[in-house]
Amino acid sequence: MSKLEIEDLRVSFASRSGPVPALRGVNISVDGGRLGIVGESGSGKSTMGRAIMGLLPPSAKVTARRFEFAGQDMLKASPAQKRAMRGRRIGMIMQDPRYALNPVTTVGAQIAECFRLHHGITGRAAKAKVLDLLAAVRINDPASVYDQYPHQVSGGMGQRVMIAIALAGEPELLIADEPTSALDASVRTSFLGLLDQIIKERGMSLILISHDLHLVSSFCDRVVVMYGGQVMEECTAADLANPHHAYTRALAACRPSLTERLPELRTFTRDPAWLEAKS
Ligand SMILES: Nc1ncnc2c1ncn2[C@@H]1O[C@H](COP(=O)(O)OP(=O)(O)O)[C@@H](O)[C@H]1O
Ligand SMILES: [Mg+2]
Repeated sequence: MSKLEIEDLRVSFASRSGPVPALRGVNISVDGGRLGIVGESGSGKSTMGRAIMGLLPPSAKVTARRFEFAGQDMLKASPAQKRAMRGRRIGMIMQDPRYALNPVTTVGAQIAECFRLHHGITGRAAKAKVLDLLAAVRINDPASVYDQYPHQVSGGMGQRVMIAIALAGEPELLIADEPTSALDASVRTSFLGLLDQIIKERGMSLILISHDLHLVSSFCDRVVVMYGGQVMEECTAADLANPHHAYTRALAACRPSLTERLPELRTFTRDPAWLEAKS
C-alpha cells in the first residue's frame, strides 16, 4: 500500500492585501484504511484535498517539511510526474457532478478520455472498459448512460459517474470531497453503500472530506478534525464519541437532533486560544 505522508503543510493564497493562510502546519498520514477530514466550512478541508491531488491554483503558495506519496516528493515532482500521479495513483471525487463534469461531452466520452490518458486505451477497447465501469458503479443501463450528457443524468447517477471517472485510473488512494452534499437523503445512503463496497473490492485507501462528524465517524477508521487551517484533534472514529478537544465537542453538540425540538439551531463560540495554541 502506498503511503501518503504530510508534515507541516502550509498553503496560502495570494490576495491584494497579502497572503491569506488556508493551511497552517498540518500533519496527516494515510497508509491503507480510511481517513476522515472533518471541520466547518472554511476550515481548509478542500484545500487539503486539492493539495494532495496537485490541483491548487497557481496563486497558492505551498510549503511542507515533508510531502510524500509512494516515496515520491510531491513538492519536487515535475509537472509531468504530477500528471502521472493525478488520477492514475490518486483519484478524486468532487462535491457536485453538475460542476465537475463537462456539460458538452457525453458521459461515456468523458470516462473514455480517462482510459486514454491513464492507460493509452482508445476506440472500442476504451468503450468496453467504460461500459464495464458503469456497470461496476451499479448503473443499470450502461449503454444508454454512455451516450447521455451530464444534464440528462440524475444527481445520484452523476455522482456514480464521478466515481467511475475516479476509478478509471485504478488509483490506490481515493479522495472524496463532500461527495454526498449534493444528494438527497435516500440517494445518499445508497451512494455511501456503493462507495463502501467499491473501496473494499478494490482495496483502495480513502480520504473522506466532510463537514458531517457523524458521517466520517461511521465511514472512516481515523478522523482528523480541522479548524482555521489547523488540525485540532486526530483520533480513531470510535474515540469521536468522547472527543478530547473543545472544538470537536462543540461541533458534535451542534448536530441537529431528530427527536429534540429546538427554537433555533445551536451554534457555538470559537475560542481564539484554539488557534494560538497550535501555531
Ligand atoms: N482559490 C482560492 N483563492 C483564495 N482563497 C481560497 C481559495 N480556495 C480556498 N481559499 C480560502 O481558504 C480557506 C479554506 O477554504 P477551503 O479549503 O475551501 O475550506 P473548506 O473546504 O473546509 O470549506 C478559506 O478561507 C477560503 O476562502
Ligand atoms: Mg470544501
